[in-house]
Amino acid sequence: MRNQVSVKVGIIGGGLMGKELVAATRRWDALVDHPVRPEVVAVADPSPDVQGWFKNANIPHIYNDYKELLANPEIDVVYIAVPHNLHEEIYLAAVAAGKDFLGEKPFGIDLAASERIVTAVKASKSFVRVSSEMPFYPGAQAAINFVKSGALGEIVEVRSGFLHSSDLDTSKPINWKRQVKFCGEIGVMGDLGMHVAHVPLRLGLNPKKVYSLLDDIVKIRKDSKGNDVACDTFDNAVLAIKGATGSDNRQFPMIWEMKRIAPGESNTWFFNAMGMKGGVSFSTRTPATYKRFSYSNGEQVWSELQPGHKTNWPVITGGIFEFGFPDSLLQMWASYFAEREGKLGDKFGCATVDEVVLSHRVFASALRSFNSHAEEMVI
Ligand SMILES: NC(=O)c1ccc[n+]([C@@H]2O[C@H](COP(=O)([O-])OP(=O)(O)OC[C@H]3O[C@@H](n4cnc5c(N)ncnc54)[C@H](O)[C@@H]3O)[C@@H](O)[C@H]2O)c1
Repeated sequence: MRNQVSVKVGIIGGGLMGKELVAATRRWDALVDHPVRPEVVAVADPSPDVQGWFKNANIPHIYNDYKELLANPEIDVVYIAVPHNLHEEIYLAAVAAGKDFLGEKPFGIDLAASERIVTAVKASKSFVRVSSEMPFYPGAQAAINFVKSGALGEIVEVRSGFLHSSDLDTSKPINWKRQVKFCGEIGVMGDLGMHVAHVPLRLGLNPKKVYSLLDDIVKIRKDSKGNDVACDTFDNAVLAIKGATGSDNRQFPMIWEMKRIAPGESNTWFFNAMGMKGGVSFSTRTPATYKRFSYSNGEQVWSELQPGHKTNWPVITGGIFEFGFPDSLLQMWASYFAEREGKLGDKFGCATVDEVVLSHRVFASALRSFNSHAEEMVI
C-alpha cells in the first residue's frame, strides 16, 4: 500500500462532466506515486437518469439536493459541474459549508457573479481551483515551457482557440448551453472561453484592449416536444486583443477564437505563439506532435516534435502511446489534489480564481465592444 492521503469527493451535477470524474478516479492507479487517493462517495443531481448512472457505478450517497451533499462531513472536496445560472448559488454554498472545490468554468454566469464568488473564496480557507484540462496535453505543456524559456524573443503574435462543430446540425435540440438565461449573455465565451484564456493568462500575455466579432448563427432550435425555442446565445466569438507582457510596453496582437460552429473541426483546442526568434504551435487536432520554430543566422526552421505520453504526473502508460482527452482530465485532477496537499512543486497547476475573473473581464469587454462597435479597454 502506497503512502497516499485519502480524500473523499462529492460531485454536484452528474452530467457530462460529473461522470468523467468518476472515470478519472477509477483510473487513478495509472498514476505513479501520486500523493493523494481520491474516492467519489457522493453525487447530488435531481435527474433520475443521472442518479441511476451513479447507482450503477456504486457511488454510496445519492442526493436530490446539493445542500444535503454539502452537509455531509465525510466529504472533503466537491466537484461542481452544473449549468452556469447555478454557479453562484452553489459555489457560494460550498464556500459557506467550508468545502474545498474545483468549479467548472465560466465560474459564474457573468463578471459580477464571478467576482462575488471569488471574494467569498478569498475570505475563506477553501482551496478552490477552476476546471481547464486542455493545457495538460504533453504538446501543450511543451509549448508552454518553450514560451516560458524566453526562446521566442519579442512576441509578434499569439493565437489561441477552441473550435467545435457540434452545432452545425441545426436539427440538434435546444439545451441549456444555447439559452442566455442558463448559459449567460457571454454565450460561447462562457462555454469555451476559459479553455482559450488559460494558457495566455498563465504565460503573462495580458489582454489590454479587445475588439470582438460575436455571431449568433442559429437563432431557433426545437425543444424535446418539437416547439421552436429561441437559441439566443452567441455561437461564435473571435476576439482581436491587444496584449502586453510585463516586460514590454509594445502591445502585440492576440487572437482568441471560441466557436461552436466551426465547420470541419470536432474538438480542436490550439495555442500558437510567434516571436522574433522562435515560435511554437500545438493543436489537439494533431495531438501527437507540436511544432517549434526558430530563426537564427537568417534561417527559418520549423521542427516537428513528438512528446509521446510525457505527462506532468508520471503514469504507467507506455511513453509511445497516444494521449487523449480523458488523460488530460486525469492530469488536471492529479494537479488539483496534489496542490491541495501542498505537493504541486514546480508542476503546472490548475486555473486559478484570479485567472478566471480576468477571463471574465475580457468577455465583458468583448460584449461592450459588440454593442459599441469599437475597441474596448479590458477593465
Ligand atoms: N471542462 C470541460 O471540458 C467542460 C466540458 C463541458 C462542460 N463543462 C462545464 O461543466 C459544467 C456542466 O456542464 P455539463 O456539460 O456537464 O452539463 P450537463 O447538462 O451534462 O450536466 C449538468 C448536470 O447538472 C445537473 N443539475 C441541474 N440542476 C442541478 C442542481 N440544482 N443541483 C445539482 N445538479 C443539478 C443536471 O441534472 C445535469 O445532470 C458547466 O459549467 C460547463 O461549462 C466543462
